[in-house]
Amino acid sequence: MAKLIDGKLISAQIRSEIKEETNVFIKSHGYAPGLAVVIVGENPASQVYVRNKARACEEVGFYSEVHALPTETTQEELNALVDRLNADDKIHGILVQLPLPKHLDETEVLLRIDPNKDVDAFHPYNVGNIMIGNYKFLPCTPAGVMALLERSGIDPAGKNCVVIGRSNIVGKPMAMLLLHANGTVTVCHSKTKDLAAVCREADILVVAIGRADFVGADMVKPGAVVIDVGMNRRADGKLTGDVNFSEVEPIASAITPVPGGVGPMTITMLLKNTLTAAK
Ligand code: GUN
Repeated sequence: MAKLIDGKLISAQIRSEIKEETNVFIKSHGYAPGLAVVIVGENPASQVYVRNKARACEEVGFYSEVHALPTETTQEELNALVDRLNADDKIHGILVQLPLPKHLDETEVLLRIDPNKDVDAFHPYNVGNIMIGNYKFLPCTPAGVMALLERSGIDPAGKNCVVIGRSNIVGKPMAMLLLHANGTVTVCHSKTKDLAAVCREADILVVAIGRADFVGADMVKPGAVVIDVGMNRRADGKLTGDVNFSEVEPIASAITPVPGGVGPMTITMLLKNTLTAAK
């Protein structure tokens, strides 16, 4: 039976630390760290994420603004909002919720955000800094995974770490952070040959592909640590990860549940980045 890595509990601990630091910050500066969240269109999942981000800000004592723009918003209008937020002294962190509607250019928007306010760490300047290991902001989900490992006493140093998924938001930065932590890192994707065999070499397996229950017992070495970044909705409406939990849990040494694993950590790391930006 695997040890359950409780993302809700670890997240609550870190948020309470952030709240204390925020109190100290407000006392010494006379203003609160401020986060602006921009959402364009009606994507229901994005709307839930944005609501949760705003609520989390309130809980730790941040100032926050949500800018909900209609689907028809033009590139010029969105750029103008980013420019205004870049110049706004109350705002220390800016997050543009992805995906954007198809007619808008994500890269153009991300490039426009002041790198010092880029609390998602998606700007190429911050991505480059992550590559060379000199970072102020870490992308929230991979940073959340690293915090889960650290607070569970799991050190990637010298371990075989396998990441399934190569997205800019999770897979690629995840690989880089594990490498900085001295893991021996393999990144797998849809073209990887004999994926199951590669995964069975992993001491730490991080799964971020967005396919429900994809990783079964045949892909996991007994005693491995399994981190499930997936968040998929089944036909019956239930949330499920990328890992088949009931198959894998009996053979792993530690595993994150979905929900209640990596999910809560992502917003916690966003709060951390916003406090860093304000400082
Ligand atoms: N969409 C899904 N995950 C994220 C995230 O971490 N940040 C932003 N901005 N959009 C997302």
